[in-house]
Amino acid sequence: MSHNEIILNDDSFLVSETDKRGVITFASDDFCKIAEYDVDELIGKPHNIVRHPDMPKAAFKDLWQTVKKGKVWSGFVKNRSKTGKTYWVYATVYPYKNKDGNDGYISCRTKVASREEIEKYDALYKRMKEEERKK
Ligand SMILES: Cc1cc2nc3c(=O)[nH]c(=O)nc-3n(C[C@H](O)[C@H](O)[C@H](O)COP(=O)(O)O)c2cc1C
Repeated sequence: MSHNEIILNDDSFLVSETDKRGVITFASDDFCKIAEYDVDELIGKPHNIVRHPDMPKAAFKDLWQTVKKGKVWSGFVKNRSKTGKTYWVYATVYPYKNKDGNDGYISCRTKVASREEIEKYDALYKRMKEEERKK
């Protein structure tokens, strides 16, 4: 484990909502705490505010293609906090209609179950990133 990593608690539950373009419209307390942002710094910002540079483009392409079809996407995501710390989540993203009737998305995230899983996806994403660089 690196000292530059934030490990979620077993009961951490990070929720955010976006509009249909991926602009943040809501962030839960746990989301703000782990990402090290005040809620006001997140609302109105594109969700790539927490993107980690190690994440391959293909992962988000898959996410967007899935939710735009009205389907639910789940996956492992390496994110980056405001001060540059890494935090891994297991995310499920759902298409939904907000209370004003507008289409948007919700993501619910929990702790990645094991260190082995983190290492597996870290290695996979590094390989995918390398492939993307060669293109
Ligand atoms: C509801 C929802 C939640 C998202 N959560 C994250 C997230 O936690 N981390 C992340 O890097 N991207 C997340 N994304 C994807 C971003 O919108 C974006 O596609 C991604 O960060 C890649 O950034 P880029 O398009 O600038 O390359 C989310 C998208 C949606 C719709």
